[in-house]
Amino acid sequence: MSLPPVQERKPIKDLQKVFHYTDTMSRKPTRDNDPYEYQAGFGNRHQSEVIPGTLPAGQNNPQEPRFGLYTEGITYSAFAAPRHANFSTYMYRVRPAAAHNGYKANIPHKSDIENCFLTLNPKVATLAEQGEWAPFPLPSDDQEIDFVDGLHTLGGSGDPNLREGIALYVYMINSDMDHRAFCNTDGDFLITAQLGNLDIQTELGKIFLQPGEICVIPRGLRFAIRLGPGHNVARGYITEIWGSRWELPDLGPIGGHGLANPRDFLHPVAFIDENLHEDWAIVNKANGLYHAIEQDHSPFDLVAWHGNVVPYKYDLTKFSSQNATSIDHTDPSVNCVLTAASRDPNTPLADFLWFGPRWDVASNTFRLPYFHRNSATEFLASLYGNGLGRSDDFLPGGGSVEISHTPHGNFSEDYVYEMRNQVNEPRKILENQMTIMVESSRSFLFTEYARTGCGTFKDQGTDPKAWDALPDKFSAYPNIQKILQHAKEHKEARRQQLEIFYDDDRLAENASE
Ligand SMILES: [Fe+2]
Repeated sequence: MSLPPVQERKPIKDLQKVFHYTDTMSRKPTRDNDPYEYQAGFGNRHQSEVIPGTLPAGQNNPQEPRFGLYTEGITYSAFAAPRHANFSTYMYRVRPAAAHNGYKANIPHKSDIENCFLTLNPKVATLAEQGEWAPFPLPSDDQEIDFVDGLHTLGGSGDPNLREGIALYVYMINSDMDHRAFCNTDGDFLITAQLGNLDIQTELGKIFLQPGEICVIPRGLRFAIRLGPGHNVARGYITEIWGSRWELPDLGPIGGHGLANPRDFLHPVAFIDENLHEDWAIVNKANGLYHAIEQDHSPFDLVAWHGNVVPYKYDLTKFSSQNATSIDHTDPSVNCVLTAASRDPNTPLADFLWFGPRWDVASNTFRLPYFHRNSATEFLASLYGNGLGRSDDFLPGGGSVEISHTPHGNFSEDYVYEMRNQVNEPRKILENQMTIMVESSRSFLFTEYARTGCGTFKDQGTDPKAWDALPDKFSAYPNIQKILQHAKEHKEARRQQLEIFYDDDRLAENASE
């Protein structure tokens, strides 16, 4: 007997074409063009040194740190928070952050920042129905827009002053942050790259971010965003959370592994700027306003650090998808990458979800998403590919939103076809595409930028005429009116039969017969 020829796997190097990261057949934990070294894990305490032996042994605050450095601590939680929620980092740096030349309040900028999402704010409004954005406009060539100037709030709920809520942003930039750093004192930024590579320098080290990757920068840490080599424009999405932090979801019966695995989260290693004595501005976002701190030294002057307030990144192509293997739909929560708790123990503030390539194998099941009215708000954005086939206008770099209980579902011709085409064969779906969803228990209010300023908003996501492809088949069912009448008569007869049991006199009369 002759055996069939052996088939060998060939590496796929284009990350937008892989079914999963493992298709690259790479032994490296990062994409080939990622220039940086990282530390793996999630929720760990990490430590890193530019010069070995800089971290003090056995203590945090030595009388004289090595090399004449200064010890600086940053907290993220209450000092006495329980261990699982206690976050701080010690930094050993050339100059303390307190050494500066003063604050400049409310500096001018070109961004559209709105952080007060209370109904009493006349600048934010609810959306009556589905909303959809064509790709958000990139900056024109005649202006230089860096991250400080290219950040635009779309919507949100709550207020950072209350440490309560969430905000969605887009960024569109064509310029590096030049001798200015950003510091968000309001909340954590979850950055999703959609277009262009980003070279992100943080106080704790460098992170390279590409479309299909996300990174989280904790509140209070300083960072500068530059365009990656060969890229002159970038666009992406940011989810900011106030009074909460991004965590891995519990896995329940799935067990210890699957979805986003902890070892795939990558943290930077210590990095110190070469030129330490140049003028810098630190742009602080506080309650949605920009204030600048000016100083004559680099904020990126750490020789060593240790702690658990650390930025990190994750490659969404590594997501280990789980789903139904016999029948029906698993709820989309099974695609949760990161979750942020709210004060309600049963309801998260937000879930960050992945929709990428996977096998679809459910038998005897209508496999497309069923019609739904979700209690949560859903913000969807396509990073690349054709965006779940939602609509012709749902393109990479745009977005769509359904606020709480907005009725929706799939509205493509595929839907009608799938109803008739009773397939049971396994098939790969969502190949060559990646879509993210921010699902929040909050009912969002939207900014003037989102509704008018960006110029790409359509206040009606989908023409309701799309539903005309789904006719009333019930009324056309043979003899349906007679069936309904029969069911009504049957119910009435049954009601009359049962009534005797509620009437003592009739029961006694019946028993004596
Ligand atoms: Fe939905």
